[in-house]
Amino acid sequence: MNEGSKAAGQRGGNIGAIVDLRSDTVTQPTAGMRAAMASAPLGDDVFGDDPSVNALQAALAERLGFEAALFMPTGTQSNLCALMAHCQRGDEYIVGQFAHTYRWEGGGAAVLGSIQPQPLSHAPDGSLPLADIEANIKPDDAHFARTRLLALENTIGGKVLPMDYLAAASELAKRHGLSRHLDGARLFNAAIAVAARGGSEGSDPYEAARRICSHFDSVSVCFSKGLGAPVGSVLCGSRELIKSAHRWRKMLGGGMRQAGLLASAAHYALDHQVKRLGEDHALARRLVEGLQGLPGLTVEAPQTNIVFCDVDQGIAAKLVEHLKSEGVLTTGLYKLRFVTHLDVDAAGVDRAIAATRRFFNA
Ligand SMILES: Cc1ncc(COP(=O)(O)O)c(C=O)c1O
Repeated sequence: MNEGSKAAGQRGGNIGAIVDLRSDTVTQPTAGMRAAMASAPLGDDVFGDDPSVNALQAALAERLGFEAALFMPTGTQSNLCALMAHCQRGDEYIVGQFAHTYRWEGGGAAVLGSIQPQPLSHAPDGSLPLADIEANIKPDDAHFARTRLLALENTIGGKVLPMDYLAAASELAKRHGLSRHLDGARLFNAAIAVAARGGSEGSDPYEAARRICSHFDSVSVCFSKGLGAPVGSVLCGSRELIKSAHRWRKMLGGGMRQAGLLASAAHYALDHQVKRLGEDHALARRLVEGLQGLPGLTVEAPQTNIVFCDVDQGIAAKLVEHLKSEGVLTTGLYKLRFVTHLDVDAAGVDRAIAATRRFFNA
C-alpha cells in the first residue's frame, strides 16, 4: 500500500454523500497535501526565487528526463505556451479531432498564437494513423501553412497510446523535421497502466512516464486531475523551449508570485499520489463490471480511470438527471462519462452502479 492510499487515510471518500464522477478535477487536497502547502517555503516566482516552485520544476524535469520545466496555473496555459514556443505565426500543428488542445481550449493556438491546427480523425485506440499524419504534412510552398509540430495526447479519452506507436509517430515527425508535443495531462495514468502490465516494459510508473516522455520535445503534466492537487500543470522541455514558454506565460498572465503554495501541493502529489492512481483504475473496472449487461447501455473495458458508456439515443440526458436525483454526478450528452478519482471509493462506485441499474429497472 503506498503512502497516498486509502489505508493511509488519504482518499477523501464520497464527499458530502454526493458521488461526483464528473471528472478527476473535482478532488479536494488531502490532509498530507494541505500540511505540505502550509509549510512550503515561499518567494516571488516572477523573480524566479520561490524555492517550492523551483524544487517542483527541477524534480519533474529530472524524473521525466528533460533539461527544464515551468510551473503554470492550468493545463490549458501549459499547452498553449508549448504550442507558441514550438510554432511561429503562420505555422501549423497536426493534432487529433478530439485532442484537448484542439477541441477544448477555446481555439487558443489559433486565436492567440496565430497557429493553424490541422485536425485528424483518431483511430479507435486514440492514436492518429501514421499514414494520415504523413499525408497532412504540407510541402514547403507559399500556399500552405508551415507544418511544424505534431501534438499528441496520452491518455486520450482514458486510452493509453501504445509505446511502439509513440516511437513510430515520433520517428515520423523527426524525419519530417517536426517538433513533438505531448499533452500529458494524465501522463501518470498512462504510466501506471503501462507499469501494471509489467513484463519487458518494467513495473515502475516513474520509469514508464520517463519512457513515454522520451518520444517528445515537450510534455505538459497536470497536477489537478488524478494527482489531486488543487491547481497546476508543469511544462517540461529543453532549456531553450522553456525560456520561450516562460516569456509566453508572462504575456498570458501566468506569472504568479508566491506560487510555491500551489507548487508544494503538486510536489506532494508527485511524491505521494502517483502510485495510488492504480486504485482509480481498479474502481473504473469495478464500475464497468457492475454496469455490464444492461439493455440499452454498452460499456467499454477501461484502460485507466475514465469510463464511457454508449446509451440508446435520447437516454443520456435522462440518465444523467436520474443519477443526479440519486446523488451521483456524471456527464454526457450522447455518451455517458464516469471518471474515478481520489475522492470516490468502492462504496461510491457501488452506489453509482445501483442507481444506474435502477434506471434500467435491472
Ligand atoms: C487532456 C487534457 N488536457 C488539458 C486539460 C486542460 O487542463 P486545465 O483545465 O487545467 O486547463 C484538460 C482538462 O480537463 C485535459 O483533460
